[in-house]
Amino acid sequence: MSVTFTKRGRIGIATVDNPPVNALSHAVRSGLVEAVAKADADPEVKALVLICAGRTFIAGADIREFGRPLEAPLLNNLVDDLEKSTKPFIAAIHGTALGGGLEVALACHFRIALPTARLGLPEVKLGILPGAGGTQRLPRLIGVEAALQMITEGNDIPAAKAKAIGLVDEIVEGELLMAALAFAEKVLDENRPIRRTGELIAKVENPAIFDETKAALAKRQRGFLAPQKCVDAVKLSTEYPIAEGSKLEYELCIGLMRGSQSKAQRHAFFAEREVAKVPGLPDDTAVRDVKTVAVIGPGAMGTGIALCFINVGIPVVLVGLDQPTLDKSIGTMRKILGSNVAKGSMTQEALDARIATVTPTTDYAALKDVDLVIEAVFEDMAVKKDVFAKLGNATKPGAILATNTSYLNIDELAETSGRPADVVGMHFFNPANVMRLLENVRGAKTAPDVLATVMKVGKTIKKVSVLSGVCDGFIGNRMLAKRSREGMFLLEEGATPWQIDKVLYDFGFAMGPYQVADLAGIDVQYAARQARWNLLSDREHKANIVDQLFALGRYGQKTGAGYYTYDDKRKATPDPATEQLILKHSAARGITRRKIDDTEIRERLIYAMINEGAKILEEGVAARPYDIDAVWMNGFGFPTYLGGPMFYADEIGLKTVYEALLKYSEQVGAEFFEPSPLLKKLALEGKGFYSK
Ligand code: CAA
Repeated sequence: MSVTFTKRGRIGIATVDNPPVNALSHAVRSGLVEAVAKADADPEVKALVLICAGRTFIAGADIREFGRPLEAPLLNNLVDDLEKSTKPFIAAIHGTALGGGLEVALACHFRIALPTARLGLPEVKLGILPGAGGTQRLPRLIGVEAALQMITEGNDIPAAKAKAIGLVDEIVEGELLMAALAFAEKVLDENRPIRRTGELIAKVENPAIFDETKAALAKRQRGFLAPQKCVDAVKLSTEYPIAEGSKLEYELCIGLMRGSQSKAQRHAFFAEREVAKVPGLPDDTAVRDVKTVAVIGPGAMGTGIALCFINVGIPVVLVGLDQPTLDKSIGTMRKILGSNVAKGSMTQEALDARIATVTPTTDYAALKDVDLVIEAVFEDMAVKKDVFAKLGNATKPGAILATNTSYLNIDELAETSGRPADVVGMHFFNPANVMRLLENVRGAKTAPDVLATVMKVGKTIKKVSVLSGVCDGFIGNRMLAKRSREGMFLLEEGATPWQIDKVLYDFGFAMGPYQVADLAGIDVQYAARQARWNLLSDREHKANIVDQLFALGRYGQKTGAGYYTYDDKRKATPDPATEQLILKHSAARGITRRKIDDTEIRERLIYAMINEGAKILEEGVAARPYDIDAVWMNGFGFPTYLGGPMFYADEIGLKTVYEALLKYSEQVGAEFFEPSPLLKKLALEGKGFYSK
C-alpha cells in the first residue's frame, strides 16, 4: 500500500510510503484521496496528520509519469479535496517537501517541519511550473516577492527560513509523528480556526515587479520558457480567486509539459542520476575512506579543487613548489570565500576556520597519511610523470592517486607511480569550485573500488560525475576539438569569428568559441595546439590562425586583444585587424572565400560533435549517450533546454544528421565528416541514440 490510513484517538493519520522519495504516483494520489475521504466521513476523526515514511516527505509529482496521459485522480483534485475539508489537516514534513509535495502541504491547513527539512518548488528546473496550485497558494501565504523568487529560481529553503517567512507554522524537534499528534491535539484543544491558504489574498505592492522579474530572467535564464511562464502564473494569483487561478495555472503548466524544453530538461534530470551508476560496477562495490585529500599544484585549477573539498569539510594538504605560490593560492581562496562574508552568508570566523583546514607545504612527506591525492600541475607529460613517481613513494598503500589532466594518457602516468590500480583521472573544469562537471577517467588498470570511490567523492563535493575511458581529450574535450576544428575551417572558408560566435550564442551557449578563447587565453590555446601537434591533420596544421595571433602577442583579454579587442571594462569589439589577418590567411592558402550562411555554420559545428559522440559510444569511452549529454550540459554550456548533443540529435532525427554529414563529407572531406558506423546504422534503421 502506498498510503495507509490509521487512527490514534481522535486524530487520523495518512502515511505515504512510496520509496525512494514518496513521489506522487497514481497509486499515491488515489491513496491520499481515499484517506481524505475517510477522514472527512469518520465522525470519530477530528483532525488529520499527513506524514511520510522513509527518508523524505513527498518530493514531488512522479516525473516518470510526465509525457504520458495523466490518470485521475489528478493532483489538482487532491489538493482541492485537502483544502476544502472542514477538519484541520496538518502536513508533517521531514526531508524534502518539493514540487507537488509542497503543493499538497500548502493545501493542508497547518504545516510543521523538522529543523532539517527543506521546502521548495523546483518545477522550473524541469521546464514546467507548479501546476497544482503552487503558484496560486505560495504568494498568498508568503507574499508575491518571496514566492516569485522561490518559484522562478526553483531552489529549496531550510525549515528555519520557511518558518521565518510564514511557510511553516512550527518547527518541531524529536520524533515527527509524536510532534504532529501533539500539534493536532493543540489545534483541537485551542479550537484554532482552519486557515485555507487559497482563501488568503495575494497582495502586490509593486505591480511592476512582474515585468521587472521577467526582464531580469530573460537575461539570467536566456532562452528558457518556464521562468517567464512562472511569473505569468504568479501574477494570476493577484488577479483571480483560487479556483480560476488554479485552472489557468494548470493550462500554463500543461502547455510547458508538452513542449520540447521540458522534455529536454526532464531528460537532463534523469541523465544526471543515470551517470552516477557505472555499468559493470555493482552498487555494493566497496569504497575507500576519503577523510583527507592532497592537491598537488596550487595554480588556478588546484586552488579551485582544494576549495571543493574544504567547502564540504574535508581537509586538504596543498603541495606547491615554493611558499609564494602557496600564499597566492590561499589568498585566492580567502578572496573567493570572502564574497560569502560580504553577502552575509558566512562569518569571518567560519572563513578563517575553513582556511585553517588547508595545510600548505612544499614537502611531499606531508602526504603520508592522505587518502586521495589529486595532481593538478602543469599539463606536460614529463612534469606529471615526475610527480607520479614521487607520489608512488610518498603516499600510504591504498591511497588513491588521481590526475587532473585534460588529455594526457593516464595509463602512462599510472605505470610511473608503480601502483597503477590506485591511479585514476579526476578531470575538473575551470573554475573547479564553480563548474558542476567532474569527468572521472578509468585507466586500463584502475581498481573497481577506486572507481566507485571517485564517483562517490564527486557526489560528496556536489559534482555531476561522469565516467570516461582513456582517449585524447576524454569525452568533453575530444568532442570540443572537433567543433574547434570546424570553426577554424569555417574561418578559412569565409566566416568571421563574430558570425560563428553569434550562431552558437543564438543556439543557446552563453558565449561563442572565440570569446571563450580570448577569455581562456590564446597563449593557452597555442600551447595546447603545440602539445597535440602530432595528432592534428595536415589541414589543421595549415589552419594556423591561433599561431598567427599568438605570434602577434594577441593573447586575448589579458593583453587587450585576441580575436576581439577589449576596453578597460573587458567589453569585446570585433577587430578589423583580425578580419584582415584571416582574409590574408585564406588568400595565402589559395582558398576563395564565400558567404557562409548560419545554418551551415551551426550544422558543421554541432554535427561534427555529434558524429564524434557516436564514435565515443562505439569505442565504449562513454558507456551511454547519457554520459555525453551530462558532460556537455554540466561542463560545456550546452543549453539544458536542448538536452545535450545526443538528445538533440535524436530530437532533430539522426537521418537528418546523417544526410548532412554525407553532404559535408563531400564538401569538406570524408576525413572530417564521414558518418560513424553507429550513427549510420541507427539513422538507416530509423532509430536514435536513445531508442536503439
Ligand atoms: N519522480 C520520480 N522519480 C524521482 C523523483 C520524482 N519526483 N525524484 C527523485 N526520483 C528518483 C530518482 O530518479 C532516483 O531514482 P534512481 O535511484 O532510480 O536513479 C531516486 O528517486 C533517488 O533520487 P536522487 O538520486 O536524486 O536522491 P537524493 O537523495 O540525492 O535526492 C531529492 C532526493 C532531493 C528528492 C531529489 O531526487 C530531487 O530533487 N527530486 C526531484 C524533485 C522535484 O523536481 N520535484 C518536483 C517534481 S515536478 C512536480 O511536482 C510537478 C507538479 O507540481 C505538477
